[in-house]
Amino acid sequence: MKHKLIAGNWKMNLSKSEAEQLLTDLASNAHASNKYQLAVCVPAVHLGKTETILANSSIKYGGQNCYTAEKGAFTGENSAATLKSYGCSYVLVGHSERREYFGESHTFLKAKVDTAIDFGLQPIFCFGEKLQEREANHQEAIVKQQLEESVFHLDSEAFSRVVLAYEPVWAIGTGLAASPEQAQEMHAYIRQLIKEQYGTTVANNAYILYGGSMKPANAADLLSQPDIDGGLIGGASLKAQDFLAIAASA
Ligand code: 13P
Repeated sequence: MKHKLIAGNWKMNLSKSEAEQLLTDLASNAHASNKYQLAVCVPAVHLGKTETILANSSIKYGGQNCYTAEKGAFTGENSAATLKSYGCSYVLVGHSERREYFGESHTFLKAKVDTAIDFGLQPIFCFGEKLQEREANHQEAIVKQQLEESVFHLDSEAFSRVVLAYEPVWAIGTGLAASPEQAQEMHAYIRQLIKEQYGTTVANNAYILYGGSMKPANAADLLSQPDIDGGLIGGASLKAQDFLAIAASA
């Protein structure tokens, strides 16, 4: 059976000492498992410490964003090449907070997906509908468009390196997760889209994570759905105990 991918998104949180403490707690309490893979996506300033502290652990890690150029005069940005040099496996691309607060377009995200893959990172591509879009029952059309505009241009070899993270915007940070049925319905739809684009094998192997208020109390129900291959966890990934409890429920 496929293992689950349990990934934390720390967002813009934790001081140096808090980050070191959390990494140390995770490294000393996480056990290698064939049921799940743990990963943390940390602010880029913490990557040096992350590389050191997680060196002998089974936990993978990544950045939360990357720019589309390898290097150069792009003040304040981080390149995929630099993330890779710190040992990152992943980089988040297209998080709704980047789309909303930093105006990242489908075209820009498409370029970021390409760059991440070119530099040997696995993009964790985030997408999902807003509340008004769900209320208007447009969620499938929105999700389809997000995938078509930023990911489905890839050939199947490149696509197989992408992790998808369905994150309904109305569930992020609200405490109101999608119900297991709502999430499963959307994940099955997403897998069907992948199947139409790339065929059954690629679709079955694809990782489709759920994100949005996942916590120890609801993780088992969400993660036991057949088309939910893991979670992308924000708030609950900031406490080692909660994050590991979510993994344990996988
Ligand atoms: P929360 O788990 O805090 O709702 O955040 C989800 C998320 O945005 C992960 O990328």
